[in-house]
Amino acid sequence: MRVILRDITKKFGTFVAVDNLNLNIHDGEFVALLGPSGCGKSTTLLMLAGIYKPDKGKIIFGNKNVTHELPKDRNVGMCFQNYALYPHMTVFENIAFPLKLRKMPRDIIEKKVNQIARKFHLDSLLNRRPSEISGGQQQRVALARALVKEPKILLLDEPLSNLDSGLRISMRAEIKKLQKDLGITTVFVTHDQTEALSMCDKIAVMNKGTLQDFDTPEKLYSQPKNQFIAEFIGNPPMNFLDVVCIREGDKVYLKGTSFKIELPERAKREFAQIQNGEKVILGIRPENLKLTSEGQNTVKGEIYVVEPLGRDKLVNVKIGTNRIKVIAPQDYNGNMGENVFVRLDMDKIHLFSSEDGNSLRMSA
Ligand SMILES: Nc1ncnc2c1ncn2[C@@H]1O[C@H](COP(=O)(O)OP(=O)(O)OP(=O)(O)O)[C@@H](O)[C@H]1O
Ligand SMILES: [Mg+2]
Repeated sequence: MRVILRDITKKFGTFVAVDNLNLNIHDGEFVALLGPSGCGKSTTLLMLAGIYKPDKGKIIFGNKNVTHELPKDRNVGMCFQNYALYPHMTVFENIAFPLKLRKMPRDIIEKKVNQIARKFHLDSLLNRRPSEISGGQQQRVALARALVKEPKILLLDEPLSNLDSGLRISMRAEIKKLQKDLGITTVFVTHDQTEALSMCDKIAVMNKGTLQDFDTPEKLYSQPKNQFIAEFIGNPPMNFLDVVCIREGDKVYLKGTSFKIELPERAKREFAQIQNGEKVILGIRPENLKLTSEGQNTVKGEIYVVEPLGRDKLVNVKIGTNRIKVIAPQDYNGNMGENVFVRLDMDKIHLFSSEDGNSLRMSA
């Protein structure tokens, strides 16, 4: 079932938690609401569930305006950030609850609960109460309860945040598979960009109640519309260097405190709107940098610190007043304080306005 949010605003007193949000979610799509703490993700989800009423705007499920419908009439499965399990019921009874409300026969309820409990590794905990299981287990019970009634729309608020890293990775795949198998339109709230990138078809990036962009993970990663998205998506985050654009004849250079590099043809076309002498922010991801010897497209810096990460090393390099992170192979042996040259893959650079942080790419 498709979900449309049109001009949705939610205020708490005078504080605007969600500001004129527009989203068009297709039937069967798996969408993440991604953003830092307090950006309005849970508020948006609670409006979709019908628990909060928007101050302005419309919510449409399928072809129906549900803005004023009660939660119970919306056929959504919701997994809350704080689980909201019934403390006096067992795990089995918690999961079975939505089916009981629908007055399903006992044997079918049992079959469905057992099936989903197996999927979420809860089969040995069915007789315990929520207070007798761990936080991660409670989270899985909440997820199972949201899914057991096979809702038309699934709303998940940080469903993996309390799991240990191993379980989180396996549940990530499990939820993605389940969502695709069932084809339920799903809105998944997270502040973890890895979760959003790895699981979802599309991501709505939010900041301070405002939608920054709504697009595929690939597009948000490769062509972020502004510096906020560029920094929020990708791990480690994108690096930024303050530069000035210099136009000399038909050549275009980016000049920093200690370097001057030429833009290749494609970048010249993409960033043709930048004026000579304009201060801009150069963005480049750690994976598009290489530690090397002096040469073309290199920038001189000094190693600030080296962080071994197992598979590779993250080398922090000071360049003028900026500090950047470079991914280096595991056997890289540079040391703190040494001078290094960093080569930029100039086909992977981003340029942002130093005034409003918006991308200066012509197609953005
Ligand atoms: N019931 C409420 N009364 C007043 N302010 C609220 C209420 N609920 C949320 N807010 C405020 O609205 C903003 C958005 O809150 P929301 O819970 O949607 O954030 P979030 O993006 O889900 O953050 P987190 O990642 O921390 O869960 C926050 O600044 C929060 O303090
Ligand atoms: Mg929240």
